[in-house]
Amino acid sequence: MTDTTLMRMMNIKKSFNHVPVLKDVSFEVERGEIHALLGENGAGKSTLMNILGGVLQPDSGTIHVNGNVTVMSSPKVSQDHEISFIHQELNVVNDLTVYENMFLGSEIRTKLGFLDVTKMCRETEKILGRLGVDINPKGFVRELNTSYKQMIEISKSLLHNSKLIIMDEPTSALTEHEVERLFELMRNLKNAGVSIIYISHKLNEINEICDRYTVLRDGEVAGNGSMAHTNLEEITKLMVGNVVSEERLLTDNELGSTVLEVNNLTCDGFFKAINFSVRKGEIVGFTGLSGDGRTELFETLFGYRKKYTGEIKIDNKVVRLGHPKKAVAAGLGLVPKDRKENAIIKDLSVQHNLTVSAIRHFEKNGLINAKQEKSAFQFYKDKLNIKVPSPNITIDKLSGGNQQKVVIAKWLEVDTDIIIFDNPTQGIDIGAKREIYKHIVNLAEQGKGIIVLSSEAPELLKVCHVIHVMYQGEMTAKFAGDIATEDEIMTYATGSKKEGVEIG
Ligand SMILES: Nc1ncnc2c1ncn2[C@@H]1O[C@H](COP(=O)(O)OP(=O)(O)OP(=O)(O)O)[C@@H](O)[C@H]1O
Ligand SMILES: [Mg+2]
Repeated sequence: MTDTTLMRMMNIKKSFNHVPVLKDVSFEVERGEIHALLGENGAGKSTLMNILGGVLQPDSGTIHVNGNVTVMSSPKVSQDHEISFIHQELNVVNDLTVYENMFLGSEIRTKLGFLDVTKMCRETEKILGRLGVDINPKGFVRELNTSYKQMIEISKSLLHNSKLIIMDEPTSALTEHEVERLFELMRNLKNAGVSIIYISHKLNEINEICDRYTVLRDGEVAGNGSMAHTNLEEITKLMVGNVVSEERLLTDNELGSTVLEVNNLTCDGFFKAINFSVRKGEIVGFTGLSGDGRTELFETLFGYRKKYTGEIKIDNKVVRLGHPKKAVAAGLGLVPKDRKENAIIKDLSVQHNLTVSAIRHFEKNGLINAKQEKSAFQFYKDKLNIKVPSPNITIDKLSGGNQQKVVIAKWLEVDTDIIIFDNPTQGIDIGAKREIYKHIVNLAEQGKGIIVLSSEAPELLKVCHVIHVMYQGEMTAKFAGDIATEDEIMTYATGSKKEGVEIG
């Protein structure tokens, strides 16, 4: 260990219920570097960080900080060693205010021992300001959207002037603009000598911001080195063990009748005059930057938003969907974004999380057919490569990406005629991403109408027949999937060009 090394974990081993999750892992972070920690879903990244953060104890192995052996017996001890931890899952308390969340457990008091609310609010504003976030410190967190909650989590880690910050997928719920602000802040921290461990499945982010990398594979170190001496293809190979193909997945399947038609749909303040249609067997993509109105458009379609003008037709009949239940009954399914908040029931088993929305499929005369339920579970476990030791453990024991796979499987099981996927691959590793898209193509080939919303145009280019681009609530372009390019899509997504053009 040289004196530029800030932290070193040596020969770390950890098992859960006799299943080894970390097998002799050694991992080192230099002072003032941004170090990427990479690996497939379930590779052991969060577990390793939980050990460094004092949340879990290793079965064996040592941790050295500044050259001294340290036992991280609790999160507090880790914090005392100037390590901050931004967890993969949101930890904010919805019923507290922004400043109360920021200072939870480290409240500032006046000389007389009273809470110094004024000072805490001022500090909160200052720290959030560094990330370009302008929210009322006295507002309740429950009223904020997920990306603000994530920003509060990030800000909390800045309170303690730490020397090492662990960021476990901080950007999965952030908009592009927020990601840029975060990167700027990370660069400043690095220049001030702070080290950052950065976990993300968005490999382009790794390329942009990280100095060195370590790849975990099945609980072992598959490789490490400097970003300057590698490329994303090599890193992917280390992660998944082979090359992940980049070609387009779509086959020339035959398209059937129109299942969904939207005419002149408008919701004041969010989107206006939207027209599109989806045919049986067709995959229709929507992309744009934040504030493009895409999520709101599909929330309206799915019955979450009642106020709209215009017309929605399913199977050629005009429908008015004031409630998600009605939407499902009419044949629409929505795989929501933000698993962190919306899509899982934490203390329910993996099995039941999968089948909870599709329960009517497994029900006969009021009885749940457990055997059928189990075989459905096995089917998706194999298909999507869900890493789970048993169907009966609660879902919070799964790695983040594996939880997301269960959410997707749940909606595949619901089996509606039209399925809307909102950001389906959030937090999912590159190999499993391809499996999920293959499955989506498969559904289209079975004659379902598919809508995919994604801010990542390259993903849409792989699977869509048609791609719609939105900008500030308006549709600015419609591309045929096989002729669109990422650059051109960006021109329309940023509003540099807009005429509602149809291309291809
Ligand atoms: N408390 C627990 N009990 C049992 N198994 C667990 C527990 N926590 C994690 N695991 C298992 O350990 C393995 C590694 O999980 P971990 O969360 O470290 O993965 P990860 O690399 O962070 O993946 P992701 O990219 O999906 O977040 C997984 O197979 C997971 O199911
Ligand atoms: Mg994780």
